[in-house]
Amino acid sequence: MSTINYSEKIPNNVNLAEDRTLLRALEHWQPNYLQWWRDMGPDGSNDYDVYLRTATSVDAQGWAQFGYVKMPDYRWGIFLNPAEAGRPIRFGEHIGAPTWQDVPGEHRANLRRIIVTQGDTEPASIEQQRHLGMTAPSLYDLRNLFQINVEEGRHLWAMVYLLHKYFGRDGREEADALLQRSSGDADNPRILGAFNEKTPDWLAFYMFTYFTDRDGKFQLSALAESGFDPLARTTRFMLTEEAHHMFVGESGISRVVARTCEAMKRLGTDDPAQVRAAGVIDLPTIQRYLNFHYSVTIDLFGADESSNAAIFYNSGLKGRYEEGKRGDDHRLHGQSYKVLQASDGRLVEKEVPMLNALNEVLRDDFIKDSVAGVGRWNKVIEKAGLAQRLVVPHKAFHRRIGALAGVKVSPEGKVVSEAEWAANEREWLPTPEDRAFVASLMGRVVEPGKFANWIAPPALGINKQPIDFEYVRFA
Ligand SMILES: [Fe+2]
Ligand SMILES: [Fe+2]
Repeated sequence: MSTINYSEKIPNNVNLAEDRTLLRALEHWQPNYLQWWRDMGPDGSNDYDVYLRTATSVDAQGWAQFGYVKMPDYRWGIFLNPAEAGRPIRFGEHIGAPTWQDVPGEHRANLRRIIVTQGDTEPASIEQQRHLGMTAPSLYDLRNLFQINVEEGRHLWAMVYLLHKYFGRDGREEADALLQRSSGDADNPRILGAFNEKTPDWLAFYMFTYFTDRDGKFQLSALAESGFDPLARTTRFMLTEEAHHMFVGESGISRVVARTCEAMKRLGTDDPAQVRAAGVIDLPTIQRYLNFHYSVTIDLFGADESSNAAIFYNSGLKGRYEEGKRGDDHRLHGQSYKVLQASDGRLVEKEVPMLNALNEVLRDDFIKDSVAGVGRWNKVIEKAGLAQRLVVPHKAFHRRIGALAGVKVSPEGKVVSEAEWAANEREWLPTPEDRAFVASLMGRVVEPGKFANWIAPPALGINKQPIDFEYVRFA
């Protein structure tokens, strides 16, 4: 079961050949996907040989195999973690009942919506990143970008499989629509806000993979608890791939910060203009990018109070992060949770039923997890003997979703007037000048082992290869 059958047109470990109808539906979708990849996937990359990992089975031993692949030939397919025999539903009103192997009729619309929303983010991020290959700071980084792109493509396949197998005709229509919406498109945008933003440069890319792929980790972890077993098993395998995406972001920012600190020490200054003149990115600009990506990403968790979140949990569709490790009753009736709102020019806490606050619970888990990595970036600054620190902004800063969307809040968490916001926005969020400066540093570096000036080399290569390995061969 865990070994993937690569002899078929669509690699899979779900015995696809036995289900002729499903196989035909997916074989029909496959050329549309490949056409979408050519049109919207990594720009100009179709003939490159890229040193990629491909899953050979879903267990720890056989997970990855490395080799040169042309990306349109990547073996996208359908991989589920093995079923856990007798796994019961672990939360909500059906707690203790066996998980569902099919879609319960009364939850069909909600499940489809959850799967479509998750599925939509996968091709969206590929579209957002499609031009980055043109300005990669090294072959190592270019390869990591492409690895993330092919895996997001596979995540799309994972959701499309569920739609085709379990949702009949409307599932097939939703699968087609996943290839029709387009990131940032005015007429037919992606579903969620952060996935319509641009990822125009590599600083934005590392921030995106650190913060926004981490949103993916938390959403997938909540879905990995689902009472709908095929969704749980699919998302568990997706989670194993997500770790590398977040690593690329965390180590990427560390390497940027390391180069910046080197220049600051050499020049004996923290003056952004002088730091920039040395061809590296000043810490205040890095902080403003962080503020932007963090705030846009925490909006992805949705409104602080949400009756949908309560329904999803109650009906066993979407659990909490690490549901199994929590010591409460996993039903949550009568429990409360604190959310923030603005009142009389101050942020105040408000107790609400916990079931309605589950978006906020997941957001708070995400915040704890992301702060840890920011601490590791600060270690790099500290090791350089510098006093500056990066910090995540207050969670009420620059919000567009939920009760905080209507108020202006500083990164420190102070409610400010429109005038104060306008006077400080340039200190808090990336300015067009910041973006233009970062863009001015971006230039493609293709010599093995060479890195753009603004970023330090990584500590280690990929798959124990040397750092100067030829990770991408151009045709
Ligand atoms: Fe993904
Ligand atoms: Fe990802």
